[in-house]
Amino acid sequence: MPYTESAYTDSDCARARRAFPSLARTVNGRPIAFLDGPAGTQVPEPVIAAIAGYYRTSNANQHGEFVTSRETDHLIEGTRDAVAAFLGAASGREISFGPNMTTLTFALSHALVREMKAGDEIVITRLDHEANRGPWLHLQERGIAIREVALLPDGTLDPGDFARQVTERTRLVAIGAASNALGTVNDLALARRLSAAVGAWLLVDAVHYAAHFPVDIQAFDCDFLLCSAYKFYGPHIGLLYARPGLLDRLRTDKLSTQDDAAPFRIETGTLNHAALAGVLAAVEFIASWGRGETLRERIVSAMTGIASHEHAVAAHYYDTVRQIPGVRVWGPDFSTTRRAPTVSITVDGVPARDVAHRLGDAGLQVWDGHFYARRAIETLGLAERGGVVRTGICMYNTREEIDRLVEEIERLTP
Ligand SMILES: Cc1ncc(COP(=O)(O)O)c(C=O)c1O
Repeated sequence: MPYTESAYTDSDCARARRAFPSLARTVNGRPIAFLDGPAGTQVPEPVIAAIAGYYRTSNANQHGEFVTSRETDHLIEGTRDAVAAFLGAASGREISFGPNMTTLTFALSHALVREMKAGDEIVITRLDHEANRGPWLHLQERGIAIREVALLPDGTLDPGDFARQVTERTRLVAIGAASNALGTVNDLALARRLSAAVGAWLLVDAVHYAAHFPVDIQAFDCDFLLCSAYKFYGPHIGLLYARPGLLDRLRTDKLSTQDDAAPFRIETGTLNHAALAGVLAAVEFIASWGRGETLRERIVSAMTGIASHEHAVAAHYYDTVRQIPGVRVWGPDFSTTRRAPTVSITVDGVPARDVAHRLGDAGLQVWDGHFYARRAIETLGLAERGGVVRTGICMYNTREEIDRLVEEIERLTP
């Protein structure tokens, strides 16, 4: 992710903020600072308009011989192509849709286990969100052995342990690209090397990563990648990339009436068409902040610029909050750009829930707890005190919001 120069300036940020109607809200007389993006970002007007517009004009089921149905077919095809551009995939036919990442991952686990036998192994990590652990842990019932990569105290995965966990029996390595709890960006090149050496599939949970960095499927060289549009200014829709030729061969849970080919093979029932209109608008909204000839170029340019802005704001938080006595910051430091703009802290003597409550009353919306990355929070010994307080930075957050946040945290400390 080489980004040295920001094409997304403070005035771009100010302009972007005007596109998000919810940012105008106040709480207790103060503007709301939405620092809860890792649990879902706010949605800009063009996305809201696209969803409403679909219902106003084109609401229909697919594959009919009439205009609204044809428009729906066209919309869904266009959304697949836009998501392919967003992820760097070669074609929209590599993109499947589902209600969310977790549901798609369970669906995939049902299909992949049919290709495995008792004694086969799946490698997961202690850092991952449960959505990329639970579906695989369930397969223990089917005789599949699960091996977990260890988490180091600095919030990074142990590369030596990773190499030990991958064996000749490994059939799948399931790893997050970035941690939604600690902001760690994982070494996917290592994951690719280790999985390729034993002929295992590589599955990447890019839910947190895709919200903050340009995704490059070709560079990841993974077999499956999942993300969720509601983390990048879109509606609640899960997205699955599958390597061409792979999904077509899998025995997914499907109806006999359903299309056998990828990408439809894993899409059960009627999709949320209006939300898909919103996904397309979200990708186009992101691209509108970039430059280039093609949609892909504009997306990469925009995400690179936005990443630089987010990194600067998050680094400002990291640098100031850790000066407060009694505050401890968890996860990797900001000396590297291989770091998501998501910063978790604990405050000595104040449970995470109380910190979040006090900040919430001041209009500073941050999450407390484990955010479903429960294994990571337990491993770091933070579960007993209610986990951590997580601040997530995205394209609409500012240094001023961080200054307000830091001031309020200072008031909380003894
Ligand atoms: C890293 C990560 N993976 C997976 C998920 C689950 O995504 P979804 O809500 O789309 O199932 C989340 C949601 O917070 C996440 O942050």
